[in-house]
Amino acid sequence: MSNVHVIDHPLVQHKLTLMRRKDASTNSFRRLLNELSMLMTYEVTRDMPMQDLDIETPLEPMTGRVIDGKKLVFVSILRAGNGILDGMLSVIPGARVGHIGLYRDPKTLTAVEYYFKMPPEMNERDAIVVDPMLATGHSAIAAIDRLKECRPKSIKFVCLLTCPEGLAALAKAHPDVPIYTAAIDRQLNDHGYILPGLGDAGDRIFGTQ
Ligand code: URA
Repeated sequence: MSNVHVIDHPLVQHKLTLMRRKDASTNSFRRLLNELSMLMTYEVTRDMPMQDLDIETPLEPMTGRVIDGKKLVFVSILRAGNGILDGMLSVIPGARVGHIGLYRDPKTLTAVEYYFKMPPEMNERDAIVVDPMLATGHSAIAAIDRLKECRPKSIKFVCLLTCPEGLAALAKAHPDVPIYTAAIDRQLNDHGYILPGLGDAGDRIFGTQ
């Protein structure tokens, strides 16, 4: 799948392994996710458009290059997506933020929308959708379906972990959306969890279990 980018930098893999451990505390899980999100942001924004900016160094004038962070919108799929947001915003503080609230119907595992809020002028923005786990793909597909109604300039999807089933589903529904992940795990279990995975990302971020 040419649209899938596995970020296999040693720092990313190291932190991911520490996060997966069942005895990682809520505090360290959250801190590692924050650090990992910053590192992943470097890769995801590698091809961001830049503008020239005339500046003066203490020695002479020069033309530097800068990004326009305000044109970026990070779109968090609630609630676990918020665990990725802080790290990304610390790297690109000018980015705007949108939220999409979906819950997983426990019987059908399909996504049901309960919240949707985006910044204005979405047609001028590049969107980066974030959710730590791309499992069945139902939430990601529903979120991107809905986001496309706002016609952003481009869409990328970022997760920490995925599996072949989730990748195939998202690539089939949205072949135009590049997927960035730190790892592709073995499989989904019957409850829609990734194996070996890291458990329930939302519960581990917020300490709700
Ligand atoms: N959501 C999670 O939090 N974990 C999984 O393994 C799958 C979906």
